[in-house]
Amino acid sequence: MDGDGDGNGLRLRERLAADGQAHLLHFWDGLKEAERDELLADLDACHFPEIMRFFRQAVQGSEALQEQQKVDEHMEPVPKEVQGSITRDREQLPTWEAEGLLQISQSKVAVLLLAGGQGTRLGVTFPKGMYNVGLLSQKTLFQIQAERILKLQQLASEQFGHKCSIPWYIMTSGRTMDSTMEFFVKYNYFGLQKENIIFFQQGMLPAMTFDGKAILEGKSKISMAPDGNGGLYRALGNQKIVEDMESRGIAYVHVYCVDNILVKVADPVFIGFCVKQQADCGAKVVEKTHPTEAVGVVCKVNGLYKVVEYSEITLVTAQKRNADGRLTFNAGNICNHFFTLQFLKDVVKIHEPKLQHHVARKKIPYVNDQGQQIKPDKPNGIKMEKFVFDIFQFSKKFVTFEVLREDEFSPLKNADSQDGKDTPTTARHALMSLHHRWVLNAGGHFVDENGTRIPAIPSSATGMSEAVTAVVNDNLKELTDLPIKCEISALVSYAGEGLDKYVANRDFRTPLIIDENGAQELIKNGL
Ligand code: UTP
Repeated sequence: MDGDGDGNGLRLRERLAADGQAHLLHFWDGLKEAERDELLADLDACHFPEIMRFFRQAVQGSEALQEQQKVDEHMEPVPKEVQGSITRDREQLPTWEAEGLLQISQSKVAVLLLAGGQGTRLGVTFPKGMYNVGLLSQKTLFQIQAERILKLQQLASEQFGHKCSIPWYIMTSGRTMDSTMEFFVKYNYFGLQKENIIFFQQGMLPAMTFDGKAILEGKSKISMAPDGNGGLYRALGNQKIVEDMESRGIAYVHVYCVDNILVKVADPVFIGFCVKQQADCGAKVVEKTHPTEAVGVVCKVNGLYKVVEYSEITLVTAQKRNADGRLTFNAGNICNHFFTLQFLKDVVKIHEPKLQHHVARKKIPYVNDQGQQIKPDKPNGIKMEKFVFDIFQFSKKFVTFEVLREDEFSPLKNADSQDGKDTPTTARHALMSLHHRWVLNAGGHFVDENGTRIPAIPSSATGMSEAVTAVVNDNLKELTDLPIKCEISALVSYAGEGLDKYVANRDFRTPLIIDENGAQELIKNGL
């Protein structure tokens, strides 16, 4: 670079040196032209003065966290007045649902999917939303979510007698953008209007050594990673997404993770609850039932709403219980949020720039000075990430809404393994078991190969009105260990509603699929 007489090149070397990054040009002289272009493109994407500022702040923040005593003394649970619950507030659910559907029918609700993660634990090279967990229909996570949006649009339109749309904002990252978009094109946007699906990209940051050097993963490639799901807020600003929402008349945004197979996208009950409470920020939570469960809990710390990780509190606090036997800190965060657009606008303009990145110590593959690829067996550097819940602290009216885990939360995090947690198998079983319960609650039955009814307990399913008021049949007994193979297309039912006409008083063998063509026992088709 120095030898090519290019003054720009010289300036680049000096600029990098000023930020302690001159090592990134270590292999420059031996690189081919295409490799040099690759490295220059990476360097172009890195604004090192800013990255070094993020690095210093993140490291300081992390050191302060380590030194700080556990946060127990400063913690208090979410006050009762701002809690809603699908089980404890049964009589209110129809009102909240009606309010949510009204807002949807007026096209004031958007959904925003966080899909910029790398899915490292799942170990696939493609975006997680493209994953097929092996359902009877072979639908991917993206398709399941798209069909839930389609169904809700239909329900709201029918109820209020005019068309409406739910724009779907999909946040990807440099690593997932192209393949995500190609997938949607290939499947014709799953029947949604192309103009109502808006892809945008979050930022990427280099992985750094502990002493602040960006890591080279190849001789001409910087190790870059997305800046965490809280990278959302910067992207909302710099990709003009907030303006897009405003121009469409959006007032409320439902934000969720790609990997929860049970996610009730734009759940009218949750939205209606938040709107009725005049909340600017809401979090769906599931009850944390076990003190040592590795789930962050929503609570107040020094008067501000936060998500506190299990590692940040002592066992004594984690084990604390209320008089009713429930854990005191039981609001398990599931990355499922409600925001008003006004709140998001304030976050983008005022608060986001003040948020620090969190430090995640990771094993980061790198190339050593001799040009050999090394896969470290212990953490050798950090990734810098912001979290989507970092902004709870800025809320003026924060609420939580507790839902049932078995109805609404089953994340896909890990590859299949014996007794694995959050795997394709657990996700598949969770969905089939939910749909099994919907069939039971709508008056259908399953029979075994001898025609004998399979006993089961239907859940007091929640969500849309019919299911909300479903009567639990006390005569039914134990749930079977393995879920009944049963799948209901979201195009037929969003949350268990409207199934009577397909299943009431009918006996089914498995596998059973209910789609737009009605209930079909696949066994009859030789499947
Ligand atoms: P996770 O933290 O579980 O990360 O993301 P992940 O990428 O899915 O999986 P691992 O940790 O690499 O194994 C929770 C949600 O946040 C999104 C993910 O796509 C997922 O929906 N996410 C995560 C982003 O959108 N951007 C990020 O930078 C990180």
